[in-house]
Amino acid sequence: MARPTYAQIDLDAVIRNIHAIKDHIGQRQICAAVKADAYGHGAVAVAHAMSAAGADMFAVAMTEEAVQLREAGIQKPIILLTVVPEDDIETILEFDICACIAEEAFAAKLSEIAQRRGTTARAHVNIDTGMGRVGLEHASADYEMLKISRLRALEIEGVFTHLACSEDNDVSSEQLDIFQEILLRLESSGMKLPAAHVSNSTATLQMPEAYLQCVRPGLILYGLHPPGVRCSDIDLVPALSLHTSISFCKRVTAGTKLGYGHTFTTSRESIIATLPLGYHDGYVRQFSNNGEVLVKGRRVPVVGRVCMDQTLVDVTDVPGVQVGDDVVVYGRQGEACISLEEMAQRLDRIPYELTCAVGARVRRRYVLNGKLVGETPVGSLIPPDVLCNIFSGSQIHVPTHENISKRGAA
Ligand SMILES: Cc1ncc(COP(=O)(O)O)c(C=O)c1O
Repeated sequence: MARPTYAQIDLDAVIRNIHAIKDHIGQRQICAAVKADAYGHGAVAVAHAMSAAGADMFAVAMTEEAVQLREAGIQKPIILLTVVPEDDIETILEFDICACIAEEAFAAKLSEIAQRRGTTARAHVNIDTGMGRVGLEHASADYEMLKISRLRALEIEGVFTHLACSEDNDVSSEQLDIFQEILLRLESSGMKLPAAHVSNSTATLQMPEAYLQCVRPGLILYGLHPPGVRCSDIDLVPALSLHTSISFCKRVTAGTKLGYGHTFTTSRESIIATLPLGYHDGYVRQFSNNGEVLVKGRRVPVVGRVCMDQTLVDVTDVPGVQVGDDVVVYGRQGEACISLEEMAQRLDRIPYELTCAVGARVRRRYVLNGKLVGETPVGSLIPPDVLCNIFSGSQIHVPTHENISKRGAA
């Protein structure tokens, strides 16, 4: 039982991208942004590949994401990029996660709990130089940071800021100036400066003055370019391709209305193929009458509305199409290619959204050294112990991935 819709994650591409970035930035560290399940690619496998390729640390947005990486054997530093509830502090300490300090009160609590546990908390301080999201306010950041640095059980290992308009060099330069000014003030107050990091993907590609000790990219690790940004010096390879195959195919007469809302009417006798791919899989509804996919190495248009689980394409111009034929949604098929960046631009969306949208029921197939090395199960099943708690006492059949696939194979 295997729905033919899957995302192929090319770990060789991830490794190549890390090497390419390392060549591009010289002797600086890479803090790899693997939040949001590595932008939809699957954080555990991707972080292991990146770690082997030389990524120095990892950045996530939630304590649970950091714990997932630790439990999966990632030993390098993991930093939280944003604030988390104080309730997370025990977990942060237990799993040796670098907290994000954006206000003194949290730092004080972190230090207090660390001291009680007889340990030292690790942290990176986030300074808001113009993003307006979280962070110490830049005007008083040096004063605040000096106070925080005196907390007994807290080690400040890093200091960072986030660029708000990385496509606008002037705004980024202003933010960088503010940040460096703060670092200078801290240094002249006698503080030993921790590793400083600013550069997201755009700055890593085109703003060498912002590299400092460490860069902190996300998107380019996955081989994708931020909108409007190109850099000829660095060769990135997309890591994610999205695949499916034709599940149904029919010939229809001219004038046939297709799909929800009848938003498409055939203008000729047509062959219409159905794909087991819908908006729950991340093929967003804006692709309705607007997307294209590859069939037998040719682009074919999406016709009608994208549904939750299925999408129609017009394959009239491709000879010999049959049920079971491979379909590439993003990626290469023969000489043809549909890039995720192209499709994001077409929808006036960003590549980040399209990779993150790839749904939980789309299997991720991992390729390493050119070979398929692993595959995730479909969907996120409720853990058996949670189910037993909810329905304690009643007769329940616990759905595990194993017995579901066994049943499918039977
Ligand atoms: C604080 C922070 N740093 C780094 C990144 C990585 O950005 P990018 O994927 O554009 O390189 C992000 C992404 O949203 C972020 O929020």
